[in-house]
Amino acid sequence: MNRDFVLYAVTALLVFLGWRLSRARQRRYPPGPPPALFTGNLKDIPRGGHEWEAYTALGKKYGDVVHFNVFGSHVVVLNSYEATRDLLDARGSIYSSRPRLVMLKEVKRWDWNLVIMSYDKRYQTYRRIVQQEFQPSVVTRSHHSLMALEIANFLGRLLTSQQDLPKHVRRLAGAIIMRITYGHKVVSADDPFVSLAEAVRETNEKTPGNAVVDLLPFLKHLPAWFPGGGFQRQAAYVRELSRKMRSVPFEAVKAQMASGKAESSMATRLIESEDIPSDMDRDQLAMDCTGVVYSAGADTTVATLLNFVHAMTLYPEVQARAQQEIDAVIGRDRLPTFDDRKRLPYLSNVVKEAFRWKPSVMLCVPHTTISDDEYRGMYIPKGASVIANIWAMLHDENVYKSPYEFDPDRFTPSSDHPEGEPDPAKIAFGYGRRICPGRYFADDSVFLAVTSMLQLFRISLPEGVKKKDVKVTWSSGLVSLPSAYPYTLTPRFEGVRELIATSSEVA
Ligand code: HEM
Repeated sequence: MNRDFVLYAVTALLVFLGWRLSRARQRRYPPGPPPALFTGNLKDIPRGGHEWEAYTALGKKYGDVVHFNVFGSHVVVLNSYEATRDLLDARGSIYSSRPRLVMLKEVKRWDWNLVIMSYDKRYQTYRRIVQQEFQPSVVTRSHHSLMALEIANFLGRLLTSQQDLPKHVRRLAGAIIMRITYGHKVVSADDPFVSLAEAVRETNEKTPGNAVVDLLPFLKHLPAWFPGGGFQRQAAYVRELSRKMRSVPFEAVKAQMASGKAESSMATRLIESEDIPSDMDRDQLAMDCTGVVYSAGADTTVATLLNFVHAMTLYPEVQARAQQEIDAVIGRDRLPTFDDRKRLPYLSNVVKEAFRWKPSVMLCVPHTTISDDEYRGMYIPKGASVIANIWAMLHDENVYKSPYEFDPDRFTPSSDHPEGEPDPAKIAFGYGRRICPGRYFADDSVFLAVTSMLQLFRISLPEGVKKKDVKVTWSSGLVSLPSAYPYTLTPRFEGVRELIATSSEVA
């Protein structure tokens, strides 16, 4: 090789590196903790629980848009509604994909799951299918009666064993979803379809994008026998479980259809639909779109209802006002219906506050940018993971007065706020093109469950337990569930059992 050529090549390389370095210097990333020399911000990414609080604290220090760089992967955390709306809502054409999520998509092979899919053609088809099934008109026409029936069944079980609230709430969420997606009636606590879905859920406790392999993707090739490679065994187990979770109920529906015994459901509608693109495998699509409903809709609803009961143990005055309204509007001769909502303004605010006080999704599923962007003079690179801190936004003192209190009156118009404080639904259900397609369904089911529980039960702390002694923590992961907390449920009047029996399948 001639010497001149080597000289030219080295000079060109130096010029290129110099240009890259000067560009990197010019780029002003959003502020964030100073990176360490080799590991960047690895140690600054919160881990070990209540990550949303740690991100909020960093937001107070660095501003509402905080940047982290870990081995060249960029993470941007949004702590204000203004920034989230400007980017995830208004610039949806850039911010609607999902990060690589190596652990979830490539190791556990959850790439079938619409919630974490990248924004591509398959995603758009899946999203359209799920959105159609949960749009308000379909929720009212096809899902309301099943929801009401399952809520009455839940009340019956709750009356029989009030100490098992968490178990009953979980069964309620599972029963509604199984009925709507597969026409399957859950009749026992160890229902095979719910057990499978639950087993998958239990494997998913970490905040998405927060595993070491997400930051160091080459680790996904570590063999299971290698030190640190133990996650591969767990991943193989999860892959098999999540395959079964989607295929077992789906094959059961197909068998019922073949024998003419299937109840109408999301699965039967998809199997018969003429709206499936010809280049897609219909069974795969139907399995994936029905399978996602439990994974996205069960825990979120469970967490919201458990947080609501916890709030009622701490705020008896809120509960008493809600019950007065229910007694005046509905009385004690029938259970609440969806039509009652417009006549229950205080109750409607209790439901809004239940979505705000302890959101079931504290940190939004990460979005990712598909091209470079600039915001308020700050550079946000293509491929950055953008995490909206839902908890921070719903507890922003500039927006919600005394944000840590459970106060439904905050939504009542006042001289300070002619329209009341903002509806948390704009924040709690996500943003832009990725906004939760199950939000109307979730809102309706939470409304009816909350109203029915308040009509029939007095919720309180057990005798002798003081509010200040109650300590609860919330889990990390896509959905944050509360730890066990003390509560007592007492039927509010004679005849609760008879009332439930008029509407439920189990008395
Ligand atoms: C309390 C109830 C619920 C809450 C708080 C909630 C919240 C959320 C949030 C924050 C997201 C992420 C949005 C984003 O990335 O910007 C999401 C996505 C999603 N939710 Fe919900 N959700 C709830 C119930 C449900 C239910 C009942 C379903 C059932 C259909 C559902 C289906 C989905 C799906 C499929 C996605 C992924 C959407 C996408 O990536 O395009 N959710 N939800």
